[in-house]
Amino acid sequence: AEDGYQLWLRYAALPQAEATALSRQAGRVLLPPKAGAMAQAAADELERGIAGLSGRKPVRGSTWQGPAVVLALPGQWSALQLLDADLKALREGGYVLRTMTAGGQRVTVIGAASERGLLYGSFAWLRALQTGADVARLDQRAEPKFVWRMLNHWDNLDRTVERGYAGQSIWNWWELPDMRSTRYRDYARANASLGINGVVLNNVNSKPEVLASDWLPKVAAIAEELRPYGQKVFLSVRFSSPKELGGLPNSDPANPAVRAWWQAKVDEVYRLIPDFGGFLVKANSEGQPGPHDYGRTHAEGAAPMADALRPHGGLLVWRAFVYSEADATDRAKQAYQQFVPWDGQFASNVVVQVKNGAIDFQPREPFHPMFGAMPKTQLGMEFQITKEYLGFATHLAYLGPMYEEVLRADTHQPGGNGPATVARILDGSFYGDGRVTMMAGVANVGSERNWSGSHFDQANWYVFGRMAWDPELKSDAIAREWVQQTFSVPQPARESIVQMMQGSREAVVNYMTPLGLHHLMATSHHYGPGLWVSELARPEWNPVYYHRADKSGIGFDRSARGSQAVSQYAPAVAARWGQPATTEPELLLWFHHLPWDYKLPSGQALWPGLIAHYDLGVQQVAAMRARWAQLQGVIDPERFADVAARLKAQERDAQWWRDASIAYFQSVNGLPLPAGVKPPA
Ligand code: GCU
Repeated sequence: AEDGYQLWLRYAALPQAEATALSRQAGRVLLPPKAGAMAQAAADELERGIAGLSGRKPVRGSTWQGPAVVLALPGQWSALQLLDADLKALREGGYVLRTMTAGGQRVTVIGAASERGLLYGSFAWLRALQTGADVARLDQRAEPKFVWRMLNHWDNLDRTVERGYAGQSIWNWWELPDMRSTRYRDYARANASLGINGVVLNNVNSKPEVLASDWLPKVAAIAEELRPYGQKVFLSVRFSSPKELGGLPNSDPANPAVRAWWQAKVDEVYRLIPDFGGFLVKANSEGQPGPHDYGRTHAEGAAPMADALRPHGGLLVWRAFVYSEADATDRAKQAYQQFVPWDGQFASNVVVQVKNGAIDFQPREPFHPMFGAMPKTQLGMEFQITKEYLGFATHLAYLGPMYEEVLRADTHQPGGNGPATVARILDGSFYGDGRVTMMAGVANVGSERNWSGSHFDQANWYVFGRMAWDPELKSDAIAREWVQQTFSVPQPARESIVQMMQGSREAVVNYMTPLGLHHLMATSHHYGPGLWVSELARPEWNPVYYHRADKSGIGFDRSARGSQAVSQYAPAVAARWGQPATTEPELLLWFHHLPWDYKLPSGQALWPGLIAHYDLGVQQVAAMRARWAQLQGVIDPERFADVAARLKAQERDAQWWRDASIAYFQSVNGLPLPAGVKPPA
């Protein structure tokens, strides 16, 4: 039965002719004599993959005899001496895949400068086998574009998961460190197949206990499970730990006792976990403590932890997701205001982690104005993989196009070379100064059999990882590889699934928040519509704060006439988004408050145009359902039925969103439904 546990690592049998060719080409796996844990893990995966795909388990060895898949580091195989210079030149984690004749044998070389590259190269070769590459004539070279490719778990120590829709946390804290679920290794394999190399184990809304001396052995146990697959563990820590856990009178970063406490705690962590990754901190945001409590800046707040981690090679990730009620004029402006003036003041082992947009993981947001605005600070990306605002694991929404849209966006910021796209700013190629780069995703993994709650949400884990490896990859190409590995179905079914995925996020935008609307979800859980909510204590928690609909119009004016948030962007961007006529319709009501009869580029007036978008969203989901229905009998029954049930719920929810939104706006503007629009039954 296909329960989804194996993710995209199913290695389903190839057609007979290909299987025979593969077992001939890959009957042996050669491992260098002194292979370490990561090379062993690579060979294990090759064995598993070749056995599944070809039906025959390869023989493991180290002698040069007969066709083989060879794991090669520089200087390890005399027959491959010619490759040494190429291998040495590879960046950490990079690899080459090459079929060639060497030492009189036909071999497939998976080569790298270090064992990490062998691991990634092995997964890449197995992927190539399943995605139609000509593996008899292979010549590929790849390197990761980011130094850190991280998952952020929002997992609590009691195994609940904040914004998790896939069951309990995979970390069984109760049983650790003595008992170790086999899931930990399978999770690590999945991450390694994408090149993910850092895992933050716990929620950004952290508890001081995670650093307690009797908790750390649990963390060390997980580190041990992930280590052979090239992932370091990180912890989310609470800014006030010195006071709350250490019993100090305060947690003021200027207090020498606080600095000493962090140093001692970090030293203790590294004694247990010598390759510990570092900390992630959410400070002065949504009630979390932080440096502002002591009148200090974020840079000053980060310093004690950064200084404690640096001698150990540890990284401090400091989040820029901050907002407070102190200034309710426009929440979208606050992060920029709290960080940009302190550009250059963060230590060399600090990355400031910025959400893709300035509000909060909405179905669509313009890119965050901080990207490119802090050239002397290492900024990292924070995407959300778990779909807090896109229908949880119930709605099918492939996030590839959304990530791509943000990464491709041109910030037009100065201070570097070549196009100033978000991707190039983040991966450092814009600056070319060898900075520490990072892309993080808020994980959607839990203890459900299929890991992500729904089969298609596995694709979001996958696409995040692939883009964290290379932000220039295309979302449709990634969807294609995912489908090929996840569903063993022939064309045209595969392409039909890809098309469904590619359009799915835009469908969500249409039925939830078209034309730049945002943050209209119901209070706290964020699943259904809550456009009418206006009585929450803090203004910026209320949907009415964001849509600002009244009798005369709708939208948040962030232009020079309004909150002036546009001025945080580079001049070319500020000019474009500062005027409704030059703002793309997708972002219109994000930046402008417009009359209901405003003429959209389509020629339609805003009110009927808005309704048309809601309606289109519902139609798009209906079309997704119809597409999927055609795959009955092609997809295995278990996964077919699960996806079909979710799409049915999604269509109902899309109608709910459309009808509730239109009814609410109509109650505000008093306008009749345009001709041809039928009121909901
Ligand atoms: C959102 C989300 C919270 C989360 C926060 C964060 O506001 O709803 O659950 O804690 O983002 O990213 O810190």
